[in-house]
Amino acid sequence: MWICPACRLPLSLDAGTWRCAANHCYDRAKEGYVNLQLAQERNSKAPGDNKEMILARREFLQHGFYDPLIERIAELIQLHGQHPDLALFDAGCGEGYYLAQLCRQLKNAGYQCSASGCDISKVAVQRAAKTHNDCQFAVASTFKIPVEDHTIDVVVQVFAPSSEDEVARILKPNGLWILVNPGPMHLQQLKESIYAESKPHTLSQVDSQNFSLHCRESLAFDLNFQTPEQRLALLKMTPYYWHTSEQNKQQFLQAENNCQTEFDIQVLRKM
Ligand SMILES: C[S@@+](CC[C@H](N)C(=O)[O-])C[C@H]1O[C@@H](n2cnc3c(N)ncnc32)[C@H](O)[C@@H]1O
Ligand SMILES: [Zn+2]
Repeated sequence: MWICPACRLPLSLDAGTWRCAANHCYDRAKEGYVNLQLAQERNSKAPGDNKEMILARREFLQHGFYDPLIERIAELIQLHGQHPDLALFDAGCGEGYYLAQLCRQLKNAGYQCSASGCDISKVAVQRAAKTHNDCQFAVASTFKIPVEDHTIDVVVQVFAPSSEDEVARILKPNGLWILVNPGPMHLQQLKESIYAESKPHTLSQVDSQNFSLHCRESLAFDLNFQTPEQRLALLKMTPYYWHTSEQNKQQFLQAENNCQTEFDIQVLRKM
């Protein structure tokens, strides 16, 4: 399924090394992932989310706070008629929680599911591969996805950037792209405790000849925190943590109210 980032030929795994016909080689890391980002294409030494953000996201997600979103994505995949043998790809997969959970839910619903994902953050992919060994992971940019053309049934993309052309290239005809972005009121209470004036998120539109918008919906639910540690994990996995004063952080951590989420979910079909 992976392709060579240097020459775009398919890679095959042989004795712990992914190799293409032109003999470009990429080691399979001990955790099981492969790094398919060429050094010259990296625009910083450690691109993507850092270790602290990754650990905070894992801690937060493991409490199941975003599971209603994952359940809805699994329902949408089943509703929109993909056949039971499904190749699923997570673009900007972070530490793999969504992909692994989705795959589990689809398997429980009777699907054969092969799951893979990429993220530009090496720490994220390391964690993903270490924890979820039933999925395949690569370090790579979503702007140059190292996957063969027309081989994927569903691309899931949650709160991560990507290229529409790349998503269209890897999807099979009629394949689905489930694109999740923050809705206008996402984490509103958190923003209010940090900014004097907090603006709602604005919704973006996919404007591409490759896709038709199949459906779009908003999913909203409250996060009910039990401890300040859970609030801290949420704060740390957002960009707000890195751009706010200690006083503002304390204000949010000590607040007792819940925090609202809102997800804008677009289901796009490749034409
Ligand atoms: C907000 S996190 C979302 C992670 C995961 N989808 C989730 O919802 O938990 C954004 C992720 O996108 C990754 N990322 C940012 N730019 C990227 C790029 N160009 N290619 C691949 N991943 C990227 C970051 O490293 C980070 O893991
Ligand atoms: Zn090659």
